[in-house]
Amino acid sequence: MTRPALLPAAPLLAALLLSGGTALAATPQQTYATQCGACHMAYPPTLLPARSWKAIVAGLRHHFGEDASLGRRDTAAILTYLADNAADGPLGNSRFLMGVSPGMTPMRITDMPFWRVIHARLLRPGIGTGPGIRKAAACNLCHNVNGGGEGSGESGG
Ligand code: HEC
Ligand code: HEC
Repeated sequence: MTRPALLPAAPLLAALLLSGGTALAATPQQTYATQCGACHMAYPPTLLPARSWKAIVAGLRHHFGEDASLGRRDTAAILTYLADNAADGPLGNSRFLMGVSPGMTPMRITDMPFWRVIHARLLRPGIGTGPGIRKAAACNLCHNVNGGGEGSGESGG
């Protein structure tokens, strides 16, 4: 079975190569992967508009029932990385902006109209409900994501 890939590898590789001069300092991307990948996968930044990432980062103290707040430096680095790679930027996935008016600030990828259309068959009871990280938001259950060697889960329904 081929699994739909979420992101081409090239931007990630380019970011790694560009960061070559400062091998010891974590890049904004590495900070994002570590801090925002602690409880769930680090979501591709290309799937939400910059204003959504700003709102999410501004509200980390009350983040979907968790306190995910970080120090000032990490917060700033993560916001830069997310805003630079957002759906409404040059690297973004513009399909994900379908049906999202400029006045809307979705706080979830799984609330985006495009995501809900593609996954309509999956939005049945059992997926998207339940405790902890909802299955729908665990993209890596069903997709290969460039996560630096993490195996793709074989569970699923
Ligand atoms: C302490 C644990 C924790 C950390 C750390 C964390 N999150 Fe979350 N996050 C959650 C939980 C819990 C949810 C809700 C999961 C659900 O209901 O599907 C969530 C949901 C999300 C969603 C919505 C997913 C969707 O489409 O449904 C986004 C986007 C998100 N987090 C971004 C971030 C970012 C950015 C960071 C880093 C700044 C971060 N998270 C760090 C716990 C965490
Ligand atoms: C329960 C399994 C499952 C989960 C969880 C899931 N997906 Fe999917 N996704 C699929 C399937 C199956 C398809 C193909 C749908 C089709 O072609 O009819 C798909 C298609 C896609 C596509 C379109 C691929 C393309 O190239 O057109 C994108 C983008 C996508 N998913 C992103 C996500 C993101 C982001 C998440 C997490 C927020 C996620 N998916 C969670 C199963 C899942």
